[in-house]
Amino acid sequence: MPSHTPITPEQARQSMVEDLIRERVGLGMELPSPRVESALRSVPRDAFLPGLPLTEVYDQHQAVVTKRDPETDVALSSVSAPSIIATMLQRADLRPGHRVLEIGSGGYNAALIRHLVGERGQVTSIDIDPEVVDRATRCLKEAGLEGIHLAVADGEHGYPDRAPYDRVIATAGAWDFPPAWDAQVAPGGRVVVPMRVRGLTRCLTLERGAGAGRWRCVAVDVCGFVRMQGAGEHWEPMPLLHEAEGRQVGLRLEDGPSVDVGALRAALAQDPVVLWSSTCVGGMEPTDSQDLYMACAADGWALLTAQRGAVEAGILRPVVLSGTPAVISDDGTSFAYRCIRGSDGTEDAYEFGAVGHGPRARHVAHAMVELISDWGRHHRGRRPKIDILPASTPREALPSGRVLTKRHTHTVLNWTDTLGEKERH
Ligand SMILES: C[S@@+](CC[C@H](N)C(=O)[O-])C[C@H]1O[C@@H](n2cnc3c(N)ncnc32)[C@H](O)[C@@H]1O
Repeated sequence: MPSHTPITPEQARQSMVEDLIRERVGLGMELPSPRVESALRSVPRDAFLPGLPLTEVYDQHQAVVTKRDPETDVALSSVSAPSIIATMLQRADLRPGHRVLEIGSGGYNAALIRHLVGERGQVTSIDIDPEVVDRATRCLKEAGLEGIHLAVADGEHGYPDRAPYDRVIATAGAWDFPPAWDAQVAPGGRVVVPMRVRGLTRCLTLERGAGAGRWRCVAVDVCGFVRMQGAGEHWEPMPLLHEAEGRQVGLRLEDGPSVDVGALRAALAQDPVVLWSSTCVGGMEPTDSQDLYMACAADGWALLTAQRGAVEAGILRPVVLSGTPAVISDDGTSFAYRCIRGSDGTEDAYEFGAVGHGPRARHVAHAMVELISDWGRHHRGRRPKIDILPASTPREALPSGRVLTKRHTHTVLNWTDTLGEKERH
């Protein structure tokens, strides 16, 4: 927020939008359209977060968790951050009169959608959790915002009662693309969905491709969302390589190889080999495409997760605790994960490297450094072409690329024919 503390919700809201625009100009990102900007300037976010300080309500990057699992403390519901909401609304390209299904309710996003589709439009917002639907209904009513149909339902099945939809906007992290969405979206429609792609969550904007049940991605954005629950819930295997409480280290194996956990535990206990790639980035350059590139190119792909204590105890070098790119050697005995260091004398710049563990530590760290260098030379700032096809599609009819086979679909990633400049952020 700017240095002067806004004193009214109205001022805080305008200042949030100005921050968002200033930041995007600075990063060279696409700006919200005038219509999305007007929605953000008009809808009172404070109505959905009563009691919270305005500085938090109107922090463009702050998602506010409204419900946690009492046993695991994992976030189950939140009011999403304005910044990602703005991006998703922009990608959805909502027009007056559109019929929209929002999966995952909080009230705020539904109110923005309502603003964008107007009186002639139709807004349906479903949540699997009755408490969330109650809360959103209450907030909307107290704010005097009408014309949104809320219901308790599992997004895996869409919401056939009010179909067809011109847009489906999912606001929980999906793993797969359920057939109901294909069935309920009108011709020419779009689906905007945070989806895990080899464990990496990216917001995909999807349009119908050539052929029944086929979807092609027209934009990829970085995002984080609570996990989709219900019939479409999916948990990736995550064997632990270090088990001590507070120092756990795991490998999340989304579409990855089956591994010999004993061998990899032993590998972590051995001294590492660290190699550097000479691939550097400035502090502001987005690197999410590097993660996607490696996820696509590496056979033995995994995400290394860690508790802070593991880094503090020197078991690992500093990593992104929630998921750092990792590669497992072909023979399953060794692995490497990505690391960074400040690059010589250049402020705000850092270099990528790889930390290898196990009998083939040097080999696997070298393979990872090669991937990083490849990205640095050829794929910086690009995004892959992503196609989604029904699981029934014969293998030989799939486009070329990395095939991720899920319950309902195949997702195919290809770096040869990538997305255009506009979709790169
Ligand atoms: C990030 S919150 C939604 C935020 C909201 N759209 C807003 O206005 O800020 C995600 C919601 O998705 C819901 N959810 C999770 N799995 C779901 C499913 N299968 N069907 C419908 N809702 C689901 C959760 O209960 C949670 O309330």
